[in-house]
Amino acid sequence: SSALAPEYKLRPLQTSDYENGYLDVLSDLTTVGNISKEVFDSQIAFIKSREGEYFNIVIEKIATGKVVAVGTLLVEHKFIHECGLVGHIEDIAVAKSEQGKKLGIKVIHALDFIGKKAGCYKNILDCSPHNEAFYIKCKRPHSLSHSIMSA
Ligand code: ACO
Repeated sequence: SSALAPEYKLRPLQTSDYENGYLDVLSDLTTVGNISKEVFDSQIAFIKSREGEYFNIVIEKIATGKVVAVGTLLVEHKFIHECGLVGHIEDIAVAKSEQGKKLGIKVIHALDFIGKKAGCYKNILDCSPHNEAFYIKCKRPHSLSHSIMSA
């Protein structure tokens, strides 16, 4: 796919994203609830301690420093396929004001690339029926597959 527009930057989640709106973007997806800065930081410390297993990425709008899109890849260690690895794509969300600008597709493609680099033989995700058309547009040759959750 084409490059990310120059006004945006794709990078790993960092502790300052507590102030930069990471949780606000996630609350467009589902309930986030109250998370203190302390709890946020310790969750990031946990994620960092599981290097190679958790990949939480964000797209930042450079002009404002705000997080505008988020996504996670979690690497599962299996026994099948000679102890193969499978990537699970989770918690994809784009800020309402930034939807429809191809940021969602960029997050998916970045996570699919990260999964491939990490050695995953496929990456999979679950989505609701109303998002299926989006994920079909995200398909690439590598490995990405999706299943639809019943509502
Ligand atoms: N239905 C049909 N087509 C869609 C939809 C949709 N719901 N959303 C996007 N598309 C299409 C776009 O029109 C575009 O098509 P085009 O290439 O032909 O122009 C293509 O998919 C890529 O769209 P993006 O601009 O990259 O999508 P966006 O940045 O708006 O992100 C997303 C899509 C993530 C679904 C966003 O709307 C969102 O955050 N929604 C709320 C949270 C949510 O439902 N997240 C997904 C949960 S499932 C999971 O996490 C695995």
